[in-house]
Order: sequence, then C-alpha cells, then structure tokens
Amino acid sequence: MTKVLIFGARGQLGRALKANAWPRGWVPTFVHRGQCDLTDFAAIRAVIWGHKPDLIINAAAYTAVDKAESEPDVAWAVNALAPAAMAEAAAAIGTALVQVSSDYVFSGSLGPAWTEDDITRPLNIYGKTKVACELAIRAALPRHLIVRTAWLYDPSAENFVVAMLRQGLSSARVSVVNDQFGRPTAASNLAWGLIRAAKVALAADDHWGTYHLTNEGPAVMRTGFAEAIFKAAAGWYGRIPAIEPISSSNYPSAALRPANSVLDTTKAKAALGVSLPSWEDTLRLSLARPAPGLNARPIPALPPFARIFSSRWPVYAA
Ligand SMILES: NC(=O)c1ccc[n+]([C@@H]2O[C@H](COP(=O)([O-])OP(=O)(O)OC[C@H]3O[C@@H](n4cnc5c(N)ncnc54)[C@H](OP(=O)(O)O)[C@@H]3O)[C@@H](O)[C@H]2O)c1
Repeated sequence: MTKVLIFGARGQLGRALKANAWPRGWVPTFVHRGQCDLTDFAAIRAVIWGHKPDLIINAAAYTAVDKAESEPDVAWAVNALAPAAMAEAAAAIGTALVQVSSDYVFSGSLGPAWTEDDITRPLNIYGKTKVACELAIRAALPRHLIVRTAWLYDPSAENFVVAMLRQGLSSARVSVVNDQFGRPTAASNLAWGLIRAAKVALAADDHWGTYHLTNEGPAVMRTGFAEAIFKAAAGWYGRIPAIEPISSSNYPSAALRPANSVLDTTKAKAALGVSLPSWEDTLRLSLARPAPGLNARPIPALPPFARIFSSRWPVYAA
C-alpha cells in the first residue's frame, strides 16, 4: 500500500487529483484548509506525523498573484515556509514530496522555452515565494519532485478560461493582453502527470528533482488562448465575442507577469516518460460541455425565413 497525503484538497488541482484514477494499492487522503491551515506549521507537522504517508503532494498555494504584493507575509508563509515544514517532516519520516511550482519563477524575457536549468529571476512576490519554496525543499529533502507548471485552468474554478467566458457573457468585446505567451495546462492533465511522475520516481527511487510539466502543443498568446476558449465553447456558449488585443501596460495590475511562460517539457518526457496532451485538444474536451456556473445560453433555432434567406446566420448575441 502507498499512502499519499494531499494538501490543497479544494483548489482546482486538488479537486482534479481527487477526481483522478489512482494507481492500484495507492490510498490518497485529502486535507483542506479547515483541517490544516498552512500558516500553522505545527499543524502541518502534526498532520504529516499523524498520517506517516509514503508520499505528500502539495497542491495548496497562495495563488492570488496581485494580492500577494500587498499581503507578502501570508504568501511567504503558505508558499515557502509551509512547503519547507512539509519537506522537513517528510525527511524525518522518509516520505517523498511532490511540490507544484510555477512559470512565475522566471523573468519571462528569454525564449523560446525555459528549461529546468535556466536561472530563476521572479518579477513578483508570488514568484519569489515559489523560488524560496524550491530552494527550501531541495535543501531539506532529496526525494522530491518539484514540478513547475503554467497557465493552469479547470472549467469549474476561477482562472483565465472562466474569466474570459464570464466577460464574454456581459460584453460583445473582451480585452486581452497580447504580450504574454505560454501553454495552457488543464488541471486534470496535470493531476494525472503528477501521479504518473511520482509513480515512476517512487518505483525506481530515482529521478528525483525539478521538472517542467504543461500541456503540449504550440505556444500561444493570451489573445490566441482566448480565441480558442470561445471556439471550444461555441456549441453551448452561443456567442463568439470580439477580442481586443491590448498591451499589459494598458492593463494595470499590482504584480508584473512574465512575457514568456513557455516551459520546456523535454526532461519530464525523457527521465519520467511523462507527457501531457496538446492543450488545444484538452481545451476542446474541457469545454465540450457547459462550464458550471456560467450562464450558458443555447443558440436559438433559426426561424424558417432565415433558413431560406440566409445561409450564414449571425452569431447570436443577446
Ligand atoms: N493557477 C495557475 O495558473 C498556476 C500556474 C502555475 C503554477 N500553479 C501552481 O499550481 C498549484 C495548484 O494551483 P491551483 O491553481 O490549483 O490553486 P488554487 O485553485 O488557488 O488552490 C489553492 C488551494 O490552496 C489552499 N490554500 C491557500 N492558502 C491556504 C492556507 N493558508 N491553508 C491551507 N490551504 C490553503 C486553498 O484553500 P481554500 O480552497 O480554502 O482557499 C486552495 O484549496 C499551486 O502550487 C500553484 O502555485 C498555478
């Protein structure tokens, strides 16, 4: 039996991990904030010592990137100090740790894709907390997988995908920054990839280290991603809003964000045999059905006269 303890049960990745099919003989236990607040390091240690898992997956994080600029203490506690406490407890009881990290550890000024060996230079507090997290884990626990991902989404959570669809409901035109590019990653795919990577590393007790894992497929600008979202949802969303490209400088936010978020995933393929599907395919599948909570409006049936006089009925917009 492989006992797995997962922090962050209620986040988008945590829920995707819960929904995943786990390997035979693996017994996952999910912990949410109500059971263990990650700013309480004694509580973290108590949960880990109480459970004595073979593997910890930390899917919890302080992910409010802009808010982190004005609330750095909490961001540091949750993103850097809590994983450090997990790593120390894990080292003491011989447990391995999978920690999720981010493209935001990079400055975003290099191209075409960041490798695991590239120098980190975060542009914001959130990115700095993630770098500190990585350093603490590497120092405390050799048996770790630090998995950096980017542009994570799940249709049932708050993220870029859902924000686009929500904006498109209230406006026929959405403004999207056109100077950030990356590869969107479905939480469900990442969840599968993390479990697969952990299985390979645990079985060999080898290949520990830092990896990049995102969906495959072409790198895309935020504007291209937005277009793909509306196309993928077209069957139930009933409209395709116009996309207005804007520069990040016209979209003031508290935290700077990297221009290039593309992560090179070669190492995960080569060392762990783990590769995620194309982001375009997964996005189409993810949005084939209405996203929960979004006020989906069906495309109305064409009135008979329109079928006669118009072979191209305009996109429905209420
Ligand atoms: N989202 C992205 O685009 C993105 C990109 C790159 C990397 N990542 C990384 O991917 C991982 C998963 O992210 P996600 O998008 O799934 O995050 P998420 O949906 O924001 O979920 C984060 C989870 O962490 C929990 N959490 C936050 N503060 C906590 C605290 N003090 N005590 C206990 N739990 C706490 C939250 O609990 P509540 O539910 O109670 O709030 C939530 O369940 C994170 O490491 C994140 O940094 C995300």
